[in-house]
Amino acid sequence: MTGIANATRIQLPAIASNRSAPVSTYSRRDLLLGATMTAVTMTARAAAPRFDIDRFVEDCKQANRAHAHAEAQSAVGEIFARAISNPKAVLQAVGPPERGGLRTLYRSTNLTILNIVWSPLMQLVPHEHKMWSLIGIYTGREDNIFWQRRDGRLAATSASAISPGTVVPLSDDVIHSVANPTEKLTGAIHIYGGDFFAVERSEWDPETLAERDWDIQRAVRTFNESNDRFFGWQKGERCAR
Ligand SMILES: [Fe+2]
Repeated sequence: MTGIANATRIQLPAIASNRSAPVSTYSRRDLLLGATMTAVTMTARAAAPRFDIDRFVEDCKQANRAHAHAEAQSAVGEIFARAISNPKAVLQAVGPPERGGLRTLYRSTNLTILNIVWSPLMQLVPHEHKMWSLIGIYTGREDNIFWQRRDGRLAATSASAISPGTVVPLSDDVIHSVANPTEKLTGAIHIYGGDFFAVERSEWDPETLAERDWDIQRAVRTFNESNDRFFGWQKGERCAR
């Protein structure tokens, strides 16, 4: 058992938690999954009535264990797509977002499930994962820009606007930056095919696009500064002299 459930060694801004009542069965449905594409939207047609976090985590763990690396993303993605097809149920289970931050729903050496809340207008610098991942939104919107290394520089190659109800799979070698383009909190579930916090990876300076080591503390500051700006705006402090 490699799981370190509900444990995060790194302190990040906490977000609201609200476990729901036990649940549920999902109906089968078709998925569109582009295994080699950087981002292909997966959409489930029918909606599950409710969402239970513990059941969801267990289903994802089981699917991940039962498949080899190449198929694990698709298997977990099917479960994820069925769940996120009812974004209101996910929102009800995790609780309405109150501030930007990150909560680890599950962490092990081969699977990480995060509940991420993006502050209004927050942007996260280009970064890589070095493992497959899946992104699903349950409220708000998340815009992704996808990048590639070209001739020693970073080049933007495509973009994807992700809305509630769909899952976007990202390949092992993806480089992306994330933005919440709305003036509301955006709630997302991100799933990674490894220990998200343990892998050495790169990020890129948002102004110069110079490559540097990914730094979790820098990400923490980004969440905190975004929260400060948002709640400052709410209080009218930004206009104070
Ligand atoms: Fe990412």
